[in-house]
Amino acid sequence: MYINKINLENFRNYEKEEIEFDKNINIIYGDNAQGKTNILESIFICSLGKSFRTNKDKELINKEKEYAKIKMISSKEDRDINIDFEISEKKKFSINGIPIKRTSEILGKNYIVLFTPEDIMILKNDPSKRRRFLNIMISQLRPMYVHLLNQYNKTIEQRNTYLKQIKYESKPVENLNIWDEQIVKIGEKIYKYRKEFIEKINEKILDIHLKTTENKEKIKVKYISNIRK
Ligand SMILES: Nc1ncnc2c1ncn2[C@@H]1O[C@H](COP(=O)(O)OP(=O)(O)OP(=O)(O)O)[C@@H](O)[C@H]1O
Ligand SMILES: [Mg+2]
Repeated sequence: MYINKINLENFRNYEKEEIEFDKNINIIYGDNAQGKTNILESIFICSLGKSFRTNKDKELINKEKEYAKIKMISSKEDRDINIDFEISEKKKFSINGIPIKRTSEILGKNYIVLFTPEDIMILKNDPSKRRRFLNIMISQLRPMYVHLLNQYNKTIEQRNTYLKQIKYESKPVENLNIWDEQIVKIGEKIYKYRKEFIEKINEKILDIHLKTTENKEKIKVKYISNIRK
């Protein structure tokens, strides 16, 4: 898969811009604050449906404009994929000209891996950063995974609401089981997807790391979860 072209309109500091890419490696260089990361951000949005820099979609619109548009054309297995993104009051996506109902439908159309200087925090910071990284990767490969994540978060929210009802409305504690069972069930499925992905990573990185360290170091990634079997 490769990205052919991206058109930006009123996106961040770009008024109207067309950027064509080579099939192989592309290097984008320039002075600070010229809009290099903005280009990467536009690719990320067309691949994952949201930005990696902000949750406030309005920030994406050029400060002096009312709307922003991104058009990305990529090729996968010799077929063109057109992703259109538009944001004014709301954000809208279409794939090959057809508007989509859920943003998650965009996942898996273009596979991307983002690695920025801040991503070193995946190693340094708390596990939530590592989970986020895994979520971004697996979501692109397994549509079911996104569904499970949403279900998991929703169930946790409902459980929290019920916890408050136990406290303030004297609802029976036993009913918590309903949520707990769901959380365990969904959590286990999520765990399996993550474990499978880590195993895949391990198959790849061992060779790469051996080469880069002239056979001196072996590398292995381990997923340590709270789930006990
Ligand atoms: N909504 C917006 N409207 C107009 N300009 C914006 C908007 N959001 C960001 N910018 C501008 O985009 C520029 C930053 O772009 P970007 O982060 O892509 O720079 P960069 O080339 O990656 O810089 P660096 O080398 O420092 O990483 C800044 O000039 C900023 O003012
Ligand atoms: Mg930058």
